[in-house]
Amino acid sequence: MSIELTNRKYCSDLSLKNVNDTIVLAGWIDTIRDHGQLLFMHLRDRSGVVQIVFNPDENKALHQQAELLRSEYCVALTGTVIERDEEAKNPHVPTGMLEVHVTDLIVYNQAKTPPFIISEKSVLENEAQDFKVDEDLRLTYRYLDLRRQSMQKNMITRHTIMQEIRRYLDEKGFIDVETPILTKSTPEGARDYLVPSRHHDNCFYALPQSPQMFKQLLMVSGVDKYYQIVKCFRDEDLRPNRQPEFTQLDLEASFIDESYIYALLEPLVANVFKIAGKSVSGPFPHITYEDAMDRYGNDHPDLRFDMTMVDVTHLLKDVNYKIFNSIANNNGAIKGIKVPNKANEMSKNMLQEELAKKVVPKFGGKGMTWMKVIDGKLESNIVQFFSEQEQNDLVAALDANDNDVLLFIADTDKHLVNDVLGRLRLYVGQKWGFIDQSKISACWVTDFPMFELKDNRLNSMHHPFTQPDDAFMHAQTTDDFLAVKSRAYDLVINGEEIGGGSIRIHDADMQAKIFETLGLTEADINEKFGFFVDALKYGTPPHGGLALGMDRLVSMVLDTESIREVIAFPKNRVAFCPLTQAPSSVSEKQLDELKLSCVKEEI
Ligand code: AMO
Repeated sequence: MSIELTNRKYCSDLSLKNVNDTIVLAGWIDTIRDHGQLLFMHLRDRSGVVQIVFNPDENKALHQQAELLRSEYCVALTGTVIERDEEAKNPHVPTGMLEVHVTDLIVYNQAKTPPFIISEKSVLENEAQDFKVDEDLRLTYRYLDLRRQSMQKNMITRHTIMQEIRRYLDEKGFIDVETPILTKSTPEGARDYLVPSRHHDNCFYALPQSPQMFKQLLMVSGVDKYYQIVKCFRDEDLRPNRQPEFTQLDLEASFIDESYIYALLEPLVANVFKIAGKSVSGPFPHITYEDAMDRYGNDHPDLRFDMTMVDVTHLLKDVNYKIFNSIANNNGAIKGIKVPNKANEMSKNMLQEELAKKVVPKFGGKGMTWMKVIDGKLESNIVQFFSEQEQNDLVAALDANDNDVLLFIADTDKHLVNDVLGRLRLYVGQKWGFIDQSKISACWVTDFPMFELKDNRLNSMHHPFTQPDDAFMHAQTTDDFLAVKSRAYDLVINGEEIGGGSIRIHDADMQAKIFETLGLTEADINEKFGFFVDALKYGTPPHGGLALGMDRLVSMVLDTESIREVIAFPKNRVAFCPLTQAPSSVSEKQLDELKLSCVKEEI
């Protein structure tokens, strides 16, 4: 017996319009309920589930065959679509009005009992998951994990987003050009993954950290508008929103400036969020790097809520409170945030014992000072050390009202103050419900410093192909270089860096000078970037571009807990693949062919 599958439907194709139709479905047995004589099951395919019914009064042999079915058996069936009795209708399942009375069944394959339950029958549409299975177990059996409806939804939405991006960029005149995966090191601030070459002794390819140099070379080639949805590889420290290999939407255009990139990206981002029914309103605000650091404590500000940091150092130069006085007069910083209308909820004990003694030290702070505004006056354990004028000044500086709570961080290290208070702002915002979780708040962070100090050496803050401002040409001292701004921009959404890019250097001499400033010798430059600097000498157009981290973007669109939820086969938290067991050792023969040997650690 066989079932003709050519016109098979997906479960979710079925609606009341199909009542009395004879249809063909194929998929996996999701759940089984034995109601005495009748056997009810859910059949699952990538679109969802539908109830199927086996009735012995209609077909005894078929019912007997169905009694042998178990979860995850792979089947196809022919059946008739029937409207369910009123009391049996389930409004929580899209096909909950119907059931399919099976007339023919084929079992293609039985299934071992899966290591975790795949059925999400109880999961209502769009409701948060309560699926607590060890992630490594899920990744070991990823092919089963991906059968779950929520994971199918993630993959389908990811696909829809990629399709929308391709449609949009095609409409704007961008062409998709592939760039090499076996290539030479491209500096993006991480370590390279290296691939040994069998044909070239002692030589290695590097997997690209990004297609940065190639996309710029495409501009030299006159491609004019390039994009690629591309894998990038970075051997960097492990963090929750990072993967060793991840996907970028990479793009570049010639004869453009920053405003072109902003106008191109804003509608695209809005279209992408719209796929999940979320609205993002433009134009996205711009905030300079310096402002972001001053007011939010980091360069990826979460603008879904206010609670900005206010510098009060200048108000407290003469204060009697010793620690503050010393910090204010020794080039340190004292900064505060206002937590509106929470004086009743934030008890003294909680402020002191939890925030000041536990939370702030975890963020790297030495302590925290708090004050409450009660009946127009400040109250706290140290308020007696502040003059009336100083108290009034603080209230005015933070624009505080009755029942507000003020939290202050002070330190001789200004960067530490920004960092700790920035984290505290997010902690308080999250814990006390100041963040509207349904809101999507995007902004452009601009005017980044061109360089930063790393291990006491000048380093590119973005990458060395970013165009510096005019101050670069006159810079001589380290401080001069640190003051140079770049034409880089980051796209930040809900406090996360989703993308970054810049207007590039298109002048070979300036590019060489940047490399020199970064401490590269002429020989280094020639060896690593000679081909690139040389290319710039052949009539390079002004150009710029950007890359979006697609895993982060899709994860945000879908509100998933981690980017691993939107990657079909991700590495785990320690950059390992529990499914394939990669990375793994290789045979002596392979090593010999590559003229490599592994150094065994002495025990
Ligand atoms: P950048 O290094 O900022 O820029 O990368 C662009 C975006 O890629 C995402 N991203 C990552 N996502 C997951 N895992 C990682 N390990 C990871 N690293 C980065 C981030 C980031 O904003 N060539 C430049 C772009 C340009 O200048 O055009 C570049 O790669 O969301």
